[in-house]
Amino acid sequence: MSTALSAQHVSVSFDGLKALANVVLDIPPQRVTGLIGPNGAGKTTLVNVLTGFQAPDEGQVFLDGQPIGGITSHRLRRLGIARTFQSGRLFGELPVIDNLEVTGVGLGLSRRESQARAEAMLDWIGIGALADRAAGGLPYTDERRVAIGRALMMEPKYLLLDEPAAGMSAEEADDLITLIRRIVAEMKCGVLLIEHNIGLVLNICDHIHVLDSGEIIEDGAPAAIKASEKVRHAYMGTQAEAGGVVL
Ligand SMILES: Nc1ncnc2c1ncn2[C@@H]1O[C@H](COP(=O)(O)OP(=O)(O)OP(=O)(O)O)[C@@H](O)[C@H]1O
Ligand SMILES: [Mg+2]
Repeated sequence: MSTALSAQHVSVSFDGLKALANVVLDIPPQRVTGLIGPNGAGKTTLVNVLTGFQAPDEGQVFLDGQPIGGITSHRLRRLGIARTFQSGRLFGELPVIDNLEVTGVGLGLSRRESQARAEAMLDWIGIGALADRAAGGLPYTDERRVAIGRALMMEPKYLLLDEPAAGMSAEEADDLITLIRRIVAEMKCGVLLIEHNIGLVLNICDHIHVLDSGEIIEDGAPAAIKASEKVRHAYMGTQAEAGGVVL
């Protein structure tokens, strides 16, 4: 099996509701893979499965060819699988620098080394000036960048971003695209990008998967996704009509 973080025939049900049905998806290294789909399609559930937060009912997850079912999320983080959460989940009362430092210590660094790495990471992202600010008091977009910085501590091999551009202006989303490109090019990371901002996904992704009611209904290069009738249909009556998505 190829080098990738890979979901193979993954199914998950919640009280009879099929959140994921036979999902196959590869996140190759040094590429941006997109995952789109209407609200409730199963995107976050798939991230939870790929990062060890949710056990699949059926199927298996592979890290570079090795099955990783049953390995805790914490251990998977040490093995190089990192994520952000749709809802931020920073330690709001702690300074920004401490939010990253805590992660480094949790991953086995000494306090001193973790602090040095946290400082370097904030500088690399371009938010060094925020180091001593309380994470909870930050504007939303800065909070998102801190969450990405925390996920990048120890330079993971795979990074899963769950709606990182939610609430961002067009200009801020452009900055995010630049950051994701640097993560791929400079850290050699494979990125899974979940986004409702379809323009952003079409712009930056090498390959895009479309989930609808737990099933992958389409996958391909951006041009193919843009032209897909199935994808257009899946969005009808949801974001497209609300004006949030232009395919
Ligand atoms: N822990 C849970 N218990 C019960 N049902 C759940 C749980 N997690 C998710 N679900 C349900 O599974 C389905 C998929 O949810 P999921 O959060 O994965 O969707 P999503 O594509 O991330 O949606 P969104 O775009 O709104 O973030 C939804 O119907 C949701 O209500
Ligand atoms: Mg979600």
